[in-house]
Amino acid sequence: MSVDCIPIFFLLFLISFCKADDQLTHEKPLTHRDMLVSKSGYFALGFFSATSSNKSYYLGIWYHGLPGPRTVVWVANRDNPITTPSSAVLTITTSSDLVLAASDGHNIWKTASSITAGAVRAHAVLLDSGNFVLRLPNGTDLWQSFDHPTDTILPTMNFLFSYKAKVAAQLLAWKGLDDPSSGDFSYRSDPSSPYLQVMIWNKTIPYCRMGVWNGEPVAGATLSTNTSSILYQTIVNSGDKFYFKYTISDTYRSRASHLTTLVS
Ligand SMILES: *[C@@H]1O[C@H](CO)[C@@H](O)[C@H](O)[C@H]1NC(C)=O
Ligand SMILES: *[C@@H]1O[C@H](CO)[C@@H](O)[C@H](O)[C@H]1NC(C)=O
Ligand SMILES: *[C@@H]1O[C@H](CO)[C@@H](O)[C@H](O)[C@H]1NC(C)=O
Ligand SMILES: *[C@@H]1O[C@H](CO)[C@@H](O)[C@H](O)[C@H]1NC(C)=O
Repeated sequence: MSVDCIPIFFLLFLISFCKADDQLTHEKPLTHRDMLVSKSGYFALGFFSATSSNKSYYLGIWYHGLPGPRTVVWVANRDNPITTPSSAVLTITTSSDLVLAASDGHNIWKTASSITAGAVRAHAVLLDSGNFVLRLPNGTDLWQSFDHPTDTILPTMNFLFSYKAKVAAQLLAWKGLDDPSSGDFSYRSDPSSPYLQVMIWNKTIPYCRMGVWNGEPVAGATLSTNTSSILYQTIVNSGDKFYFKYTISDTYRSRASHLTTLVS
């Protein structure tokens, strides 16, 4: 190796050392100082406080590198805030679950995957879609944040309105602009309707009725939100499951914004 090469190797070393990681492993837990950043830098996962008083901290996912206030798209512990951020740590347990714990050892939030991974160690990765996925080395996904939306539907997410004729996923608005805890307004299906009826609810009171799906097959709909951006909505009925999915044309994917955010 010639001497000329050394600075380049040194630089490469620095770059790989400084680069934010998109993965969480059993060996490397996430503390309040750390942040995961998706591969192309679209999304970040870490701890945040929604108020300037910094009294309550949450584990969340937001758009990375956008100017202005942080736009949070997912919150893990919305109704169970962390009060001392320095003590909080997100780990992957030996039983392949994600656990957010405080220093006194009590769990603030935890996933419960249905698959027993056994001796294999899962890792978690923050994808460019904004999905945080707990994955086994053989590619099996144990858990994903897209199955547990907070108040936002992101492109490529399958938003499961109903499963076996029961309400499955729902969006639940933040209580206030600076308060991620569960608010009064939700977006979910109406279990009493014989058809797929999507509504906005003020707690248990219907507030606004949206589309009704009467059983006719729907191939998909194209929504032009703006002359320069196109998004596609697909309604999928696969036996037991009824879900919506939004996708964005390739050209605009890199600057895709969130599609549905419930605001109280
Ligand atoms: C809250 O945290 C932010 C960012 O870390 C910091 O700039 C600010 O000074 C903190 N506020 C208080 C009251 O500690
Ligand atoms: C991956 O590993 C898990 C746990 O060992 C197992 O349950 C699952 O069937 C495997 N999946 C594939 C596709 O091999
Ligand atoms: C939601 O319902 C509560 C009563 O449960 C009512 O006081 C409030 O005004 C309603 N909100 C809106 C925006 O209609
Ligand atoms: C459409 O989007 C572009 C770029 O995102 C923006 O500059 C323009 O104002 C938007 N037009 C309308 C009608 O919203």
